[in-house]
Amino acid sequence: MKFIGFVGTNATRSTNRTLLQFMKKMFANEAEIELVEIKDLPMFNKPKSKELPVQVTQLAEKIAAADGVIISTPEYDHAVPAALINALNWLSYGIFPFVDKPVMITGASYGTLGSSRAQAHLRQIL
Ligand SMILES: Cc1cc2nc3c(=O)[nH]c(=O)nc-3n(C[C@H](O)[C@H](O)[C@H](O)COP(=O)(O)O)c2cc1C
Repeated sequence: MKFIGFVGTNATRSTNRTLLQFMKKMFANEAEIELVEIKDLPMFNKPKSKELPVQVTQLAEKIAAADGVIISTPEYDHAVPAALINALNWLSYGIFPFVDKPVMITGASYGTLGSSRAQAHLRQIL
């Protein structure tokens, strides 16, 4: 099985990235997990031409080719980070790589409930 591990933040230092790196290593014998970054995507601006940035089409192709997606999200103000919703906005603008795609939602936080509300938020978005 091949999975895409979506780092749900644009932060350089992130426990969520570390979590995905750990999962990749921990389950190396059972699945291939490729980490993808959303930090270099431009801010979604609803381009009239519907022309997508090349990073977005590359990301969509990776998702389409994978057996499933794992998204690890931090929690910012009880929601997903702006960088994550930005990526999801691009990935639903005339393209639908998540249709019928199994998605596992996870997250890491320093606090007891941190990431849980963002995960519920992400479930609703998806
Ligand atoms: C702007 C901002 C808002 C945050 N809001 C919340 C919050 O509402 N609830 C919460 O539990 N943690 C909150 N946190 C803490 C982060 O969610 C938590 O540290 C995060 O899951 C860590 O992920 P990361 O290391 O991948 O960035 C906030 C952090 C920042 C920077």
